[in-house]
Amino acid sequence: MGFDQYHEPANELSEETRTFARMMASLGEEAEAINWYEQRISIEKNKDAKAIMQNAQKEEFKHFGMDLEFLLRQKPLWREILQGILFKNGDIVEHGEDAEESAD
Ligand SMILES: [Fe+2]
Repeated sequence: MGFDQYHEPANELSEETRTFARMMASLGEEAEAINWYEQRISIEKNKDAKAIMQNAQKEEFKHFGMDLEFLLRQKPLWREILQGILFKNGDIVEHGEDAEESAD
């Protein structure tokens, strides 16, 4: 069992910060799983195996989303910035710059 999610001594971190760290680690793991499935799916020739991997990747999308939503509930500033970026058409960089600038 690794404790790599802590960058500072765990006993000096609050319970909330330790939970935040665990959820950040989970978010990264879900992103990694999505990436691994993406690569496997892209090269898999067996139709049934590919369908199973696609189903599994779909579940990882859900896990990633739930982790992210949990984290955003802990960090209102992060939520505010992402609200200016996500689910919008147009220039991503421009939305990002505008969201960062207007967030407080
Ligand atoms: Fe997952």
